[in-house]
Amino acid sequence: MLVLGIETSCDETGIALYDTGRGLLAHALHSQVALHADYGGVVPELASRDHIRRVLPLTREVLLESGVTLADLDAVAYTAGPGLAGALLVGAGVGTSLAYALDIPAIGIHHLEGHLLSPLLADPAPQFPFVALLVSGGHTQLMRVGGVGDYTLLGETLDDAAGEAFDKSAKLLGLGYPGGPAIAALAESGHTGRYPLPRPMLHSDNLDFSFSGLKTAVLTAARNLPPDTQARADLAAELQTAIVDVLVGKSIAAIEQTGLTRLVVAGGVGANRRLRVQLSAAAQGRGCSVFYPPFEFCTDNGAMIAFAGALRLQQDKQENTRGSGSGFTVRPRWDLASLATA
Ligand code: KG4
Ligand code: ZN
Repeated sequence: MLVLGIETSCDETGIALYDTGRGLLAHALHSQVALHADYGGVVPELASRDHIRRVLPLTREVLLESGVTLADLDAVAYTAGPGLAGALLVGAGVGTSLAYALDIPAIGIHHLEGHLLSPLLADPAPQFPFVALLVSGGHTQLMRVGGVGDYTLLGETLDDAAGEAFDKSAKLLGLGYPGGPAIAALAESGHTGRYPLPRPMLHSDNLDFSFSGLKTAVLTAARNLPPDTQARADLAAELQTAIVDVLVGKSIAAIEQTGLTRLVVAGGVGANRRLRVQLSAAAQGRGCSVFYPPFEFCTDNGAMIAFAGALRLQQDKQENTRGSGSGFTVRPRWDLASLATA
């Protein structure tokens, strides 16, 4: 079964072809980072317009690379939410139209489900059930994943996401967008301890997070920072360590609470090397294995959408729109736990 995946929820156009027999055939990505750089964040209207420009050329590219044609497709999966409404509409419009023309199913995928299942693209892939730490730009959640569609929310952020804390703090430090990689790079030459920052809710007796206070603490520290690069590097190192400490502490607490032995990390912040090192070290001592998506699939991409679409199609749990011409919908706000099957 051959599935075309289309991701356009934010600032990356991702297209991929996944075959249930042969695996991932090809994927292509266009990042809009340069387009939004001058604005210090994503400008929704610019994002939508750029997705329109990229989606068909990238689709042609993956078809060519895989040596298949549109006629070979069995389904089209697109990100239906959550995300920027206009950006989502581009992928949904193109995906649904293609499927309608080809008389094959169009499958609307939850973006976070794509992230959540993306570690299954790696080798070795984790077995269900596992605990998932979902750390993207807009979400920080711990989920219990029993299988495809079987998601139980264990805890989540009460305010900002970890990625948001990276991005907003980077802005305060005069670094570029996206902030996570910029903070991580600057932190390489920094030392912790010089500008102490809180570890919010690290010892709370639940699995929730809060990162907005951290951003405020960075703002206060940044105001009093001497004008040298070392000071900014030291603050970046402290911030990265504070965020990682909380993510690791809560993930281990989730492992202990659920009694599971597999932890899966997904979403853009999962690309953070310090997080990977610290999580692996903490998990190892507890007989727990940690799984990540292939590095390139940590951040937004079409492969995870094609893959999630293929799994959904195999399970046939999603209502598909097969050539009905009944239109489509996107959900800019969409709770992942609401996908759970009874
Ligand atoms: O999953 P993602 O690509 O997009 C969303 O669905 O939101 O995540 C983007 C987030 C941004 O906040 C970005 O700063 C963060 O992931 N990020 C990182 C790193 N790479 C990306 N954060 C920390 N360290 C990184 N290396
Ligand atoms: Zn994402």
